[in-house]
Amino acid sequence: MGAISSRVYDAVVLAPVIDAVCGCEGFAARRREIFAKAKGRVLDVGVGSGHNLPWFSGNKVTEVVGVDTSEDLLRRARKRTEGLDFEVDLRVGDAHDLAEFQDESFDTVAVGFTLCSVRDPKACLLELRRVLKPGGFLLYAEHGEAPERDGSLRTWQRRVTPYWSALAGGCHLDRNPERLVRRAGFEVEEAKQEYVEGMKTRLGEWHGDRNRKSQTEDPLTCSHTIKAAFVYTGVATRAGS
Ligand SMILES: C[S@@+](CC[C@H](N)C(=O)[O-])C[C@H]1O[C@@H](n2cnc3c(N)ncnc32)[C@H](O)[C@@H]1O
Repeated sequence: MGAISSRVYDAVVLAPVIDAVCGCEGFAARRREIFAKAKGRVLDVGVGSGHNLPWFSGNKVTEVVGVDTSEDLLRRARKRTEGLDFEVDLRVGDAHDLAEFQDESFDTVAVGFTLCSVRDPKACLLELRRVLKPGGFLLYAEHGEAPERDGSLRTWQRRVTPYWSALAGGCHLDRNPERLVRRAGFEVEEAKQEYVEGMKTRLGEWHGDRNRKSQTEDPLTCSHTIKAAFVYTGVATRAGS
């Protein structure tokens, strides 16, 4: 794709689709659970269109700095800042290089459905570790590889990822976020993994009920779709601090 057509694709197709899919109810439930634990000064990396923002609590959070490579998504995020009772600073930036932020300058770092999309998750997580204060928390809610080693879903995720990734802003279906977090030097203190079955979005119910209905009609054809999102949530700290 040429540079101009790629920019048009990102603005006209990718940004609205990411906004809609990331806004699904199944993801929102996981965000609510995990991001309510944030406190103090928070860095939300890959903030996108701002779907994590409503779940940070103004009682505990003083400021959220949101960084993303996409100005199209940041524009949407700015519309979600109204009524929030903490400071919000949204800016273009790259999670691989957060040099604008000092070491140990955030109480919480948050990643929501972002480690799937960054080019080098380990490099990003090392940056997050650098800017996190000792005793601070990394909070994550991420989709990733299916758990069944011998199941065909994992094989399907691996096969589809190169094509999916090219269309979906670099998104990988087959990463294991919890393993990535541990390998970058974090200690995972709380972790949960589960399938998200119903995905109700602003575009309508395109995963949930439709598939439940077709499952009754033909359980084999829909089983992959209904289990498409396996979500990892967790709380981690800097190992050794
Ligand atoms: C699937 S979207 C999730 C957005 C948002 N966190 C949410 O949950 O709604 C992945 C996000 O990561 C962003 N992203 C990808 N690579 C990035 C990078 N190197 N630095 C910062 N953001 C990045 C994309 O622009 C996109 O907004």
